[in-house]
Amino acid sequence: MDLSYYHVADDVPENIEEETAVVIDVLRATTTIACALNNGAASVQTFADLDLLKKESSLWPSSERILLGERGGKKLEGFDLGNSPIAVTKDVVEDKRIFMSTTNGTRSFARVRDFKNVYAMSLVNRKAVGEKLLSQKNDQVLILGSGWEGSYSLEDSLAAGALASFLMSSKQNSVQIINDELNAAIALWTCWETDLIGCLRKSTHGQRLQRIGNHDQDFLCCSELDNISTVPEQREKGILFSL
Ligand code: MLT
Repeated sequence: MDLSYYHVADDVPENIEEETAVVIDVLRATTTIACALNNGAASVQTFADLDLLKKESSLWPSSERILLGERGGKKLEGFDLGNSPIAVTKDVVEDKRIFMSTTNGTRSFARVRDFKNVYAMSLVNRKAVGEKLLSQKNDQVLILGSGWEGSYSLEDSLAAGALASFLMSSKQNSVQIINDELNAAIALWTCWETDLIGCLRKSTHGQRLQRIGNHDQDFLCCSELDNISTVPEQREKGILFSL
């Protein structure tokens, strides 16, 4: 399996040949998506554009939908939820379609929506996504972080390194690391694998979250490695379902 990693959507080359993408936004979009689907949400539809989200969600009965919106780490006015994995509990999300827009994570989904296979991964479902990739025997996999407004983020690279290191330890497949972004991510994982929550708190977005309020429970949730087995998979363009 050839594995590459790009920090943010704009770094992905135009004519990429990969058919499989793994989108990562540890703090917090892909953690929230994994938790929501794990707690019984029917699906999560991601939008980079808020007007489109409002238009499409208005076509759904209000009792069957949840609007989740975040900018700058904060919940958007008029939305049911902000982007917190601890808010998407079973009683809130079960059987609902979540219409979601976040500062960075949903842009990454927009970049890869035409890929044949798209998965959402964070630390909580790293092993589940890794096992899925191994079982599918994908030849080329692109891992895409979300960063912050176009720039690098520590925690997404940590998770990219965690995925690569899981895949490299498998005897089922041989893994080739295709770019230095991924070599660096693996080195980062080696540095921080025994203190995941420390890494999340040290990251600039982790510091932003600490500045705007108490996010201790979010950090705890986002750092629970291999805690859930849900693999969010794109089955319709821009819409993720649980495998
Ligand atoms: C994003 O998409 O930028 C993040 O998930 C922001 C956040 O922590 O809510």
